[in-house]
Amino acid sequence: MGNRRIAVFGAGYIGLVTGACFAKLGHEVVVRDIQEERIAILRNGGVPIHEDGLAELIAQNSDRLTFTLDAQEAVRDAEVVYVCVDTPTTPSGDADLSRIWQVLDSLHGARHLAAVVVKSTVPVGTGARVRAAMDSAGLHAVGYAANPEFTAEGRAVQDFLHPDRVVIGSDDPDTTKLVAQLHDGVDGPVVEMDVASAEMVKLAANALLATKVSFTNEIATICEATGADVERVVGAVGLDHRLGPHFMRAGLGYGGSCFPKDSRALRALSGNAGYAFQLISSVIEVNDLQPRRAIQRLKEELGGFQGRTVALLGMAFKAGTDDIREAPSTIIASRLQAEGASIRCWDPLVRALDGAPWSSTTRCPSPLEAMDGADAAVVVTEWPQLQELAWDEAAAVMRRPLLFDGRNLLDPVQMGAIGFTYMSVGRSTVRGTA
Ligand code: UDX
Repeated sequence: MGNRRIAVFGAGYIGLVTGACFAKLGHEVVVRDIQEERIAILRNGGVPIHEDGLAELIAQNSDRLTFTLDAQEAVRDAEVVYVCVDTPTTPSGDADLSRIWQVLDSLHGARHLAAVVVKSTVPVGTGARVRAAMDSAGLHAVGYAANPEFTAEGRAVQDFLHPDRVVIGSDDPDTTKLVAQLHDGVDGPVVEMDVASAEMVKLAANALLATKVSFTNEIATICEATGADVERVVGAVGLDHRLGPHFMRAGLGYGGSCFPKDSRALRALSGNAGYAFQLISSVIEVNDLQPRRAIQRLKEELGGFQGRTVALLGMAFKAGTDDIREAPSTIIASRLQAEGASIRCWDPLVRALDGAPWSSTTRCPSPLEAMDGADAAVVVTEWPQLQELAWDEAAAVMRRPLLFDGRNLLDPVQMGAIGFTYMSVGRSTVRGTA
């Protein structure tokens, strides 16, 4: 029926999920990446990243899903090329689009190409540049669309198949229709618009979500200073249907591959247009300070870190993922080391890590082992395992039962009753009564 041949460029978090989901929807998909190891793993039936439901999806649709290193092989029969390569930030704060240009360079071998669709997050105006480059390469007849992704890591498959919306930006109706048809079977509304607006939707949505997080973290700081409890405050604020309860969890700040990069990209985009976007600058600053404030509070409680051992519970930027890109854990581990602490760390999904600060930390197979003999522990990631932990055992194995709960995961009264000095974000410190 409406099934198409799609070449997905990039086998990262976005490309693999996009490819696997399009295969599930019935399309013939070839995923291309430049990393030999990644493609070898996929060809052998493995999955190089952790994403809920992805391995099953790839296995179930393997007859419509192939993997290659060869760009020509990928584009030869493709009707649609999906660009899911990464766009790192350059020293000027702009996005590095070189990987997108490389994809365009390989399109000359395509025999059936109808459209190029960019899913990577790009500055507003990129689509117009890509369109111009395609025209000068003689690809006038090939359509262009922006189709930004809004999937959250850990639930990307679910978000792709049941999205709040699918945004399609194209300046020609046939391409819009083609990309909309690719999504037949996806359970969510399709919103059509011009290319530049679609590019802006992504940056604006992520900036507003990041703003909610930083706003909540600022309220939390004021709660600490005034004796209010941020969890109670936010719980009641979020009941206002105009505000909603989402993205108002106080903590160690946002991380990951999107919010930090996209908020900086929006600031750079505004600056390049001669506009100082002060609100987004403050959002970024609040987020940069958040893990540092936590360490400062813990330092005051502990009376310094020199010669102390600190357990880091969780390294991933959030629960449900093995991703540590721009994770608060990296700042926290580096700061603690700079202050003279030794670090014992635990994470259920993050794989072995090289380089600073991780190479000089002790990796432990369980939270309890990480806390064995520690002077303090920090909950960095909201892993459910930590909620279920026997914290009385943790209190018994630590040199001093001091916990900084950077995700407000645990109950202050219960932790106090076990004997912990329990610090958290936006709530009063509880001193152990056991
Ligand atoms: C995000 C967007 O949700 C997604 O739409 C976009 O496509 C990519 O960026 P992701 O980075 O996977 O997805 O994570 P998300 O669950 O949105 O959380 C982002 C960060 O904000 C995490 O570090 C999380 O811990 C933090 N966060 C989130 C908070 O600190 N408080 C909150 O209330 C919510």
